[in-house]
Amino acid sequence: MAPIEKIKDTNSAAGRIILVTSFFSIAYAVLRYHVLGPIPWKDFPFFILNKGIALTGFILLILNFSLGPLKTIGGPVPSSYLNSRKSIGMTGFLLVLIHVLMSFLMFRPTVYSQFFLIDGTLTLNGGLSMLGGVLAFVTLWAYNLSFQTFLREDTKFIQFITSRRFMLGAMLFTLIHLFFMGYKGWLDPSSWHGGLPPISLVSFILFLIGYVINLLGRK
Ligand code: HEM
Repeated sequence: MAPIEKIKDTNSAAGRIILVTSFFSIAYAVLRYHVLGPIPWKDFPFFILNKGIALTGFILLILNFSLGPLKTIGGPVPSSYLNSRKSIGMTGFLLVLIHVLMSFLMFRPTVYSQFFLIDGTLTLNGGLSMLGGVLAFVTLWAYNLSFQTFLREDTKFIQFITSRRFMLGAMLFTLIHLFFMGYKGWLDPSSWHGGLPPISLVSFILFLIGYVINLLGRK
């Protein structure tokens, strides 16, 4: 009789997680800006979709970083979720790349007046927010590179980039991106379309939850 082997659980929930996250993120952007807000539907394919894509990518990255630490502190994380981490991390990174390209194409005072002064230069908050975004993006890229085979032999580099210190520090760039972009609007709920909080605030709160989970559970 053949020996009974322990079957490794390789079931992954990645497809489901990506679909559900995309649906809710894009639906939130549509509801807040088109249905309850004043943005015309012609702006859906680029301006509003960019917001939905940024939120989807961002949530997938938070899940990628936080599911392991959440399991460590005793959270109810099924193995199909743990198995999905690589796919959702890669998808999150690619969606953020799309967000970066779309933002570059639209980045001018007529579209993002909140980041610019009348003379066309960046405000201090706009500059800080964009600096945070660029640094967050490059750090994510470096993290992704660490999984490439040609770098895997450089164990010191891998150890540094996947270390608790690097990860917790790198995550703060995203915090800067979101905070300086939106805090003025966060403090004025009367300006929230339909009473729904801005996407930057929703992202900020999700970030804080993920960050605390990482502080407690990342070794
Ligand atoms: C070169 C890097 C980046 C640039 C130039 C950039 C640019 C922008 C801009 C212009 C906005 C405002 C969008 C709007 O109000 O419609 C924005 C929002 C946002 N970005 Fe980035 N970003 C960058 C990197 C990142 C990274 C790395 C992440 C996530 C890890 C990210 C996540 C977000 C999120 C969640 C929002 C909120 C969307 C909203 O409130 O509408 N961004 N970004």
